[in-house]
Amino acid sequence: MTAEETLSAIAQEVSACTKCVLHETRKKSVPGDGPVNAEIMFIGEGPGFHENEQGHPFVGAAGKFLDQLLAQAGVTRADVWIGNVVKCRPPGNRDPLPDELEACDVHLEAQIKTINPSIIVTLGRFSMNKFIPGAKISAIHGEMQKIGDRYIIPMFHPAAALHQAALKPSILADFARLPDQLKEARAALGRKDVVEKIKETAVQQDNKPKQLNLF
Ligand code: URA
Ligand code: SF4
Repeated sequence: MTAEETLSAIAQEVSACTKCVLHETRKKSVPGDGPVNAEIMFIGEGPGFHENEQGHPFVGAAGKFLDQLLAQAGVTRADVWIGNVVKCRPPGNRDPLPDELEACDVHLEAQIKTINPSIIVTLGRFSMNKFIPGAKISAIHGEMQKIGDRYIIPMFHPAAALHQAALKPSILADFARLPDQLKEARAALGRKDVVEKIKETAVQQDNKPKQLNLF
C-alpha cells in the first residue's frame, strides 16, 4: 500500500468508526485533509457545525481565519495537512471528553505516522495537551520545540483569536514565523526524503510556474 492509500484507508476507518459515543450524533466524520507528503500538520480540536455537514476540517468562520493565517505563513491548504484530535463533532460543540480523545487518538497517530511531518502545529489546548501535557499556551505559543523525532509548535486556536481581539496580533505573528521555523526544522532533522521532495517540486514548478511554493 502506498502512503496515499494508507491515508485513504485511515479515512475509511474513521467514517465507519464506532469507538466512542460521538459516532452516534455525527453527520459526516472529518478525518482531515491534505497531501500525504505535507511537511506541516495542523491539528485542531474537533469538527463544528459546518465541518460535520461537509466532512472537511475548518470550513466555518474559524476556517476562514485559518486561511488568512496560512497566507501569513506563505502557504495554502494544498501545501499542508489539516485535521483534529477528534474526528466526529461533539454535540453542541462541547469540549471533547477524555475517553473520546483517547479513543480517537489511534486515528491521529496513524495519520502522523503515515505523513511523518517535520512540524506539527497544535491549534488549541486539547491538541497541545496531547504533545505537551500541562503546558500553558500563553507562555509557549509560537515557540517551536523538539519532541521525539519532530518539532511541535503550539498556537492559539483560530476560533479563540476570533473571539478575543487581543490574541489576533499574537496568532498572526506566530504564523509569520513558520517559514523560518520550517527551515530550521529541516536543517536540524537533515531529512533526505524532504530534500528530494523539494527537488521534485522545483522540477514541477519549472513546468508550472504558477504553483509557486514559498517554502
Ligand atoms: N475548529 C476545530 O478545532 N476544528 C475544525 O475542524 C473546525 C473548527
Ligand atoms: Fe471514532 Fe473518533 Fe469518531 Fe469517536 S470521534 S467515533 S473515536 S472517529
